[in-house]
Amino acid sequence: MYAWLIRPIFFLFHAERAHYLALNLLSLMLKIPGGKAHCRFWYRPRKAAKVQAFGLTFPNAIGLAAGFDKNAAYIASMAYLGFGHIEIGTVTPRPQPGNPAPRLFRLPKDKALINRMGFNNDGVDAAVRNLRHPSVQQVRSQMSVIIGGNIGKNKTTPNATAWQDYVQCFEKLFDHVDYFVVNVSSPNTPGLRELQEKEPLLQLLNKLQDINRAKAEPKPLLLKIAPDLSPRELDDVAEVAIAAGLSGLIVSNTTLDRKQLKTAANDLEAIGAGGLSGRPLMTRSTNVLRYMRQRLPASIEIMGVGGVMRSEDVAAKQEAGAKLVQVYTGFIYEGPAFVRKLLAQ
Ligand SMILES: Cc1cc2nc3c(=O)[nH]c(=O)nc-3n(C[C@H](O)[C@H](O)[C@H](O)COP(=O)(O)O)c2cc1C
Repeated sequence: MYAWLIRPIFFLFHAERAHYLALNLLSLMLKIPGGKAHCRFWYRPRKAAKVQAFGLTFPNAIGLAAGFDKNAAYIASMAYLGFGHIEIGTVTPRPQPGNPAPRLFRLPKDKALINRMGFNNDGVDAAVRNLRHPSVQQVRSQMSVIIGGNIGKNKTTPNATAWQDYVQCFEKLFDHVDYFVVNVSSPNTPGLRELQEKEPLLQLLNKLQDINRAKAEPKPLLLKIAPDLSPRELDDVAEVAIAAGLSGLIVSNTTLDRKQLKTAANDLEAIGAGGLSGRPLMTRSTNVLRYMRQRLPASIEIMGVGGVMRSEDVAAKQEAGAKLVQVYTGFIYEGPAFVRKLLAQ
């Protein structure tokens, strides 16, 4: 029903408006009698294998990628759709509006999206307030949902002091999330991807690990990388990940590559700058995942993300070495039963 009725209605709205419309309708549905039972019956996976990774137990292999629930405002709703983990953020220390709209575009012919959101979010304090909400505690304890905190820097913070932004988000979120992701791979914050270079990256991760290791119970620290790095840059990332004692990598963020798209060149030009996600990203991100798996010790586990639209794609990421798989664009195209479908039920 989603494909022939609901999606065409949502797709009448501009992409960002449709996103919030859908999320608010879902939250509303969960408040009405029978709403939760509806989700349990139609959407939640009936049975799924638990996954052990980073010292945590995930209720299933499928998670919601960062950027979908930037402010941790829809955790309960996403848990009811069956996601085993939900990665909030990217969160920055101070609220920021992101880039001017329109900044999110659908490419239906390619089952893809282009976005240049620019880390729009309400700031880390708002995320903490939302994470304290009783509904979040409830889904964590009753459904064992795992929550990741994806952290970044404010646009106006120069790279030289970016580490302070990451540290601030890390400290404030520490008691409210199960794992952390350092995001230096978004293409939409000017200069951010420069932090993926060897020296600045190692410094940033070491600072966070020093704080992390001083805690009674350190949290798994992961790094999310771009799919556009050269083999030499990927080798540097592997070296840094080992040196910093990371628990894992997330491979990958959106790509800047727009080759071989079905969408017309003049439509792409009209859209302008932004990162591409969805089906065209599948092969590239899986190749990078396989490359990194071969270069990292087994103790550093990988979450695969990018272009997952069907259960075969999940299997391909797993075959390339992913322990867990995240989705974003596929969920927009496939709808609320997506997790169940991916887990082949
Ligand atoms: C609209 C949009 C916003 C995103 N925002 C973030 C973000 O804030 N932080 C981040 O690490 N990734 C962000 N991403 C990237 C996704 O988490 C994911 O890595 C990427 O979309 C590839 O997965 P997919 O092909 O399943 O969409 C965003 C993606 C989209 C489409």
